[in-house]
Amino acid sequence: MAGKDEKDQEGGPGKPGETKPSVKKLDRRDLLLGLSTVPALGLFGYAWRKQHEYEQKPKEAASAKTAAASKDVSEVNVALLGAGAQGQVLLDAMLRIPGLRFRAVCDVWTEYNQKRVVNTLKKFKFEVNGYEDHREMLDKEKDLDAVVIATPDFWHAPHTVACLKAGKHVYCEKEMSNTLEGARSMVLAARETGKLLQIGHQRRSHPRYLHCYEKLLGEAKILGRIVTVNGQWNRAVSPDLGWPERYAIPADRLKKYGFKSMEQFRNWRWYKGLGGGPIVDLGSHQIDIFNWFLGGSPSAVMASGGLDYHEAKTHEWYDTVMAIFEYQTPAGTARAYYQTQTTNGSQGYFENFMGDQGTLVISESEANNPGFLYRDPNAPAWDEWVQKGYISAPKVQEVKEKDEEAVLDVRESVSPDLHRVPVVLRDPYHQPHLQNFFDAIRGEAKLNCPAEVGYESAVTVLKVNEAIDAKRQVSFRPEDFKV
Ligand SMILES: NC(=O)c1ccc[n+]([C@@H]2O[C@H](COP(=O)([O-])OP(=O)(O)OC[C@H]3O[C@@H](n4cnc5c(N)ncnc54)[C@H](O)[C@@H]3O)[C@@H](O)[C@H]2O)c1
Repeated sequence: MAGKDEKDQEGGPGKPGETKPSVKKLDRRDLLLGLSTVPALGLFGYAWRKQHEYEQKPKEAASAKTAAASKDVSEVNVALLGAGAQGQVLLDAMLRIPGLRFRAVCDVWTEYNQKRVVNTLKKFKFEVNGYEDHREMLDKEKDLDAVVIATPDFWHAPHTVACLKAGKHVYCEKEMSNTLEGARSMVLAARETGKLLQIGHQRRSHPRYLHCYEKLLGEAKILGRIVTVNGQWNRAVSPDLGWPERYAIPADRLKKYGFKSMEQFRNWRWYKGLGGGPIVDLGSHQIDIFNWFLGGSPSAVMASGGLDYHEAKTHEWYDTVMAIFEYQTPAGTARAYYQTQTTNGSQGYFENFMGDQGTLVISESEANNPGFLYRDPNAPAWDEWVQKGYISAPKVQEVKEKDEEAVLDVRESVSPDLHRVPVVLRDPYHQPHLQNFFDAIRGEAKLNCPAEVGYESAVTVLKVNEAIDAKRQVSFRPEDFKV
């Protein structure tokens, strides 16, 4: 995954001749004076507690589960269905979660991915069986409690529905499905069977995102009214995925599972009917956050996109997409821009929420844009939130001209203060969401991304490709998001 730097924020000058409201601008001295009222020891109390609680929980769970496991309670029997790149990432995270017993691995690439993961699990002393066909696995593995699915998007609906109907709880990767009918069938199967279905939008369980949602947007309403949002996932050009020739899957097996060739099997994301292209693959993560943080689903979307760079022979979906959503929030209209392109990885991936009092830049990455807030110079002070430890103390942005001998226009605002969101995830990115799934199976938590939430997100994202084809704005009706 690409992921680079940095911020895109600026406090813009007024237009020539424009008069600004006469609000006192705080200078550096005012800020420092203001901060001297903050008791230093209380500064990070909340953040420290939150971080500590978060790190403590798995440790406590681990010792509790060891005791529980000896009485044969609370152990969850798990199968992994789809042992490719993401299956491996999920497995690495699950191996850190106490109380899981791995029983089976199902993957059609028996000679490569399946073998690798079965061998890994055997090294961890799990007695696992390998399967090529999910139906055979479900027939034979009667003791399974849960199946974690990381197959290509077009397999999500058939795999999820079959597992739920066999009485298993399911964690299924995003995008929920490559079609709305598929996503719908998953919601209905979860409802009919009463089994849990968690969709793999892992940011929904990420402590930094939860902190921003609950504390900063919910309690502090720190951004004021959010009017615009933008997000992106930019990736540099990269070669198509290959495979070791001696492990190529025979043509009849490829065909049986819906692939025309090894090339298509490895690069399924780019093919219509199998994946949804970068907007679905990458955009689904962040457009889901637009919905979550704006508190609802959009009323319309317009989008421009195309296959501008890559080979049409091996890339059917659009390599470049720019989309604008409209949301009707209780506070008024909000517009959200999203861009994904695969020709230049500059600035990686992040989401940027801009309100009339401040801006939040957030990403899942701990390395790039993990969480910054800019207070608009005219907004009320944020001392209370600094004091509670919800945000870090501000780093005052130095006025540029000192270093670069630039001459600022007299009407130019001082740069906004920069605060950090003081919540760091020290576990693999997917661990909290998986933990939430297993906690829910044990009756100790509610799912953070149940089928209905995943469905709303799928409707929002899949509509972008439709809007590109329609070459006009397309509307959503509230009932489009419900099953
Ligand atoms: N949440 C995230 O951050 C994240 C990141 C990457 C991928 N994903 C999702 O994970 C899923 C898998 O992506 P990936 O990158 O691992 O793809 P991949 O191609 O590397 O792996 C897919 C695996 O599924 C197997 N497979 C294909 N058809 C199958 C079938 N019918 N039955 C059993 N196994 C089958 C393949 O052999 C392969 O091992 C996708 O839905 C993708 O969107 C999520």
